[in-house]
Amino acid sequence: MTGPARSRRDAAGAALCGSGLHKSYRRGREQVHALRGVDVEVAPGELVALLGRSGSGKSTLLNCLLGWERPDSGVVQVPGVGSPEAAPWTTVAVVPQQFGLLDELTVAGNVALPARLAGDGDPAAAAAGVLGSLRLGHLADRLPAEVSLGEQQRTAMARALVVRPAFVLADEPTGHLDEELTATVLGVLREACDGGTGVLVASHDPAVVASADRVLRLEDGRLG
Ligand SMILES: Nc1ncnc2c1ncn2[C@@H]1O[C@H](COP(=O)(O)OP(=O)(O)O)[C@@H](O)[C@H]1O
Ligand SMILES: [Mg+2]
Repeated sequence: MTGPARSRRDAAGAALCGSGLHKSYRRGREQVHALRGVDVEVAPGELVALLGRSGSGKSTLLNCLLGWERPDSGVVQVPGVGSPEAAPWTTVAVVPQQFGLLDELTVAGNVALPARLAGDGDPAAAAAGVLGSLRLGHLADRLPAEVSLGEQQRTAMARALVVRPAFVLADEPTGHLDEELTATVLGVLREACDGGTGVLVASHDPAVVASADRVLRLEDGRLG
């Protein structure tokens, strides 16, 4: 028996970290402080749950770690890469809250895309494997508009995992799933962790909390 396939984590096995992250938004004359000095680390192989009520700053934190938003102050360090803007999907992959699937590609086409861009020898086979484990194999040839929200959500999860990334950041990835499918997704994430991937899941799903190695609580822009 061989062990689980290893993720593409960097040689040193360093953590993805954000330190001293502050982010505020101006809305007219109002200033919204989404992050008020957050320090966060995700190590290779661990599953970290990020809990917090709606509006507590979870998506803002993920977006800063991804380089999709720039913090007002503070630093994000991606192992082996440096700044998050430069991180390829093989280093940091994301399951966005709104999925971000390409409408004109099939489910399988969406999932194969990162593997294709990463130069995988057989992107279609890589996609088929991960679609099977997320119980989407029968939907491979449909367009995103032809599947349910929960199926779109799992497609986005499959697209994140297809390249065995060093880190996965998932924003409420079980929000449209029933208990059984949530368990399937958590099982697949745990397998990824066993292969060395570090996973950060923003959620308020008790099932996610129960399966996490570590739980972070975000309240009003601060980690408790
Ligand atoms: N682009 C934006 N402009 C103004 N306010 C924003 C923007 N994005 C988020 N916010 C505000 O920042 C706070 C944190 O939002 P968010 O990170 O999306 O929280 P969560 O993901 O935990 O629901 C909320 O008060 C939200 O309304
Ligand atoms: Mg959010």
